[in-house]
Amino acid sequence: MKFFTAALVAGLSLGAGTAFAQQDTAPKGNIENGKKLFTANGCYQCHGTLGNGAPLTGPRLSNTQLPFDAFMMQLRSPANEMPPYEAKIVPDSAVADIYAYMQSLPASPNAKDLPLLTGMGVK
Ligand code: HEC
Repeated sequence: MKFFTAALVAGLSLGAGTAFAQQDTAPKGNIENGKKLFTANGCYQCHGTLGNGAPLTGPRLSNTQLPFDAFMMQLRSPANEMPPYEAKIVPDSAVADIYAYMQSLPASPNAKDLPLLTGMGVK
């Protein structure tokens, strides 16, 4: 348990460090091209056409707060069930474009803010 706590703390501080280092190093991607690549590479099939995600297929990516290198890492060596995307298939510049596109999208609304759903008793 002690080890677990230490590892967790180390992980958290590493993560924070990465996020800070990240701010300056995120490449400037092309949003329009990212939009095309998001479709062409099939990301939309699991993450939704506007990156809103779905519980059973893939998490929300729209308005992502992930640092660029974490975003990239997920493509190169996915955390869990997502298929990997090698640089041969989706080069670093393409990941930067997709990242820019996702960042450009507004966060999707909460279910409780959608009248259609609240009318059905969603809280
Ligand atoms: C077959 C379904 C599938 C496809 C296709 C897919 N993903 Fe994923 N993605 C997932 C799942 C499931 C996760 C959750 C983590 C995992 O299982 O690895 C995920 C997680 C992510 C995350 C991490 C999100 C977070 O907040 O932690 C990013 C970034 C991501 N995907 C980007 C992409 C991009 C970009 C593409 C297209 C090049 C893509 N994904 C294609 C299923 C998919």
